[in-house]
Parts: sequence; structure tokens; C-alpha cells
Amino acid sequence: MPNDNGVTWKKTDIDSLDLKGLNAVVIGGTGGLGRAITQQLASHGAKVTVVGQTFRDEGVSGIDFVKADLSSVKVAKQVGGELPTQSLDLVVLTTGITAAPEREQTSEGVEKDMAASYFSRYSLLKELAPRMLPQSHFFRSHPRVFIMGFPGSGKTGDPDDLNSERLPYKPLETHFNTVAANEALVFGAKARIPHLKFFGLNPGLIKTNIRNNYLGENSWKSSAIEWVISWISASPEDYAKKIVPLLISPDLSNFNGAIFDKNGNAIEKTPVFTDVYVDKFWEASAKLELKALGDSK
Ligand SMILES: NC(=O)c1ccc[n+]([C@@H]2O[C@H](COP(=O)([O-])OP(=O)(O)OC[C@H]3O[C@@H](n4cnc5c(N)ncnc54)[C@H](OP(=O)(O)O)[C@@H]3O)[C@@H](O)[C@H]2O)c1
Repeated sequence: MPNDNGVTWKKTDIDSLDLKGLNAVVIGGTGGLGRAITQQLASHGAKVTVVGQTFRDEGVSGIDFVKADLSSVKVAKQVGGELPTQSLDLVVLTTGITAAPEREQTSEGVEKDMAASYFSRYSLLKELAPRMLPQSHFFRSHPRVFIMGFPGSGKTGDPDDLNSERLPYKPLETHFNTVAANEALVFGAKARIPHLKFFGLNPGLIKTNIRNNYLGENSWKSSAIEWVISWISASPEDYAKKIVPLLISPDLSNFNGAIFDKNGNAIEKTPVFTDVYVDKFWEASAKLELKALGDSK
């Protein structure tokens, strides 16, 4: 079914895919949903470079690793400036954590969730995207960038407090600000980087490590919540099997700026994301990035 913007694509079975010749980068492909997507892409013939902190697929054919702590703006920019782009068809951005119960910040002075879940994408993309060619050999059209988060969920965020400095600190609001910033990133990048296509992914709730920083790794709270989620939702592998056919669908060449739910169905964006509101996030991001780079000298 098309959504209200007429976005639709023909779903295909993952087992019918031949992805030989597809070159992909999955930022955050070392764990959780990014890793599941990487494994599906590689097992169907694609070459995938994953960027993250801990490589868990050593020896798996088709998967290369770049080690980086992307909570550093400086490192994110460096990785974005160095990844090979000559034959890059597909970029998937899945890095993330949740905000801790007490505010944490990086050595560059950025709140840690905002740094790992948003600046790891914003700062990296600003370096990577201009270096990517306007034509993908695999898609015979523009290369594609997929930004995973929680778009379309109604989170408006607060671009005036991107660094969570307002008191009292509220971890859930901080995390929802990263959600909003990532939704704004899809539309802001679409407006600013016309030689690529940008899409948002909302996977819904899936059992992964994403909530560890908030719930506490291996805590009873974490075990209970993740157990419930694993019962009511798809596994990362099942999600990836549904979503990889979307990532490479020829139909997507007709669209730009669309967002998709856990089943790959197009959904409506959060209404607050007008061009003016998206620009506010973009401007606040540029300011905080500059401050982070200054603080790290
Ligand atoms: N799972 C859900 O229920 C859910 C719900 C809504 C939205 N999402 C979104 O889906 C995306 C993927 O989340 P997930 O569930 O797959 O989480 P995950 O299992 O925790 O995976 C997160 C990934 O981010 C990487 N990462 C975290 N901090 C990093 C850092 N400082 N430097 C480099 N890499 C870093 C991790 O790599 P290392 O392990 O190598 O550090 C891992 O590959 C996120 O945007 C999340 O917000 C997930």
C-alpha cells in the first residue's frame, strides 16, 4: 500500500536476491540491527564494510571492519573523510545507545547519547556524502543512505537543547531528542545533498543491546524488558530479512526522503518536521559540532 505521499515498493523474498556487485557501508554494523542487515547483505553476495567498536564477524566472507569510537565528533568526521567512496552504492547508519540515568558527556563536551546516536551520523555524513559519486553502478541511479532511528513516532525533540544542558536532566527526553534529530537528518540531508537519496528506518522495538546504557547491562530490569520485547517482536534477523529487500528495491529510485516502519511499509513523517524546523536542527548541530571540535583541541 502506498502511504499518503504515494511511496510504495514491490516486496520480494530475500532468498531471491543476488547482491553481487553491491558495495555497502554499515555504520554500526558490528552489533544489533546493523549487524543483522550486514549479514543478510553479505550472505547474498554484497561487499560490506562495517564501522563500530567491536568486530563480531571475523572471517565472514564479504564483511570488512573499520574500528572507530564514533562518539567522538573528530573521529566521525575522520572516518567519513577516509572511507572509500569510488564504488559505494549503499550506506546504512545504525550506531546508537540510549541516554544514561545521569547525564554523561564525551571528552569533546557532547552529551554521550547525542554524540553516539546522532553526531556519529551527522558529522560522518557531512564528510562522506560529498565524496560519493552521483551514480550507483548497482542501482543505475543515485546511491542511497538509510538513517535508522525512530522516525514518524511523533517525537519533536528540542533543537535549542541539543546538548541536554537544561536542568533537570531527563534521560528519556535526551534520547527522544536524538530520535528527532535523526528524523530531521533525513529531510535536512535530502534538501542539502541532491546527488544522493535519503531514507529513514523505524524498526520498532527489537531485542538488542540498545537499551543497556539506560537500563544497565545484565540488570534484572534489562533482562525482564528485553525478554518481553523478544516475545512480542521480530528478531534482528527476521527484521533484516524484511528490510534488506527494501534497501535494494529498484522502486526506491523513484522516491527520496521517505521513511519506513518495521515491515518496510512507508509511513508518514512526524508533522513538526517542516523545512524551518529541520533547519533549526541543522543549525544547532553545526554549532555544537564546532564547539565539540574546539573543545577537543
Ligand atoms: N532495538 C530497538 O528496539 C530499537 C528501537 C527503535 C530504534 N532503534 C534504533 O535502531 C538503531 C540500531 O540499534 P540496535 O537496536 O541495533 O542497537 P545495538 O544492538 O545497541 O547496536 C548499536 C550499534 O551501534 C554501535 N555503537 C554504539 N556506540 C558506538 C560508538 N561509540 N562508536 C561506534 N559504534 C558504536 C555498536 O557497535 P559496538 O558494539 O561495536 O560498539 C552497535 O553496532 C539505533 O538507531 C536505534 O536507536 C532500535
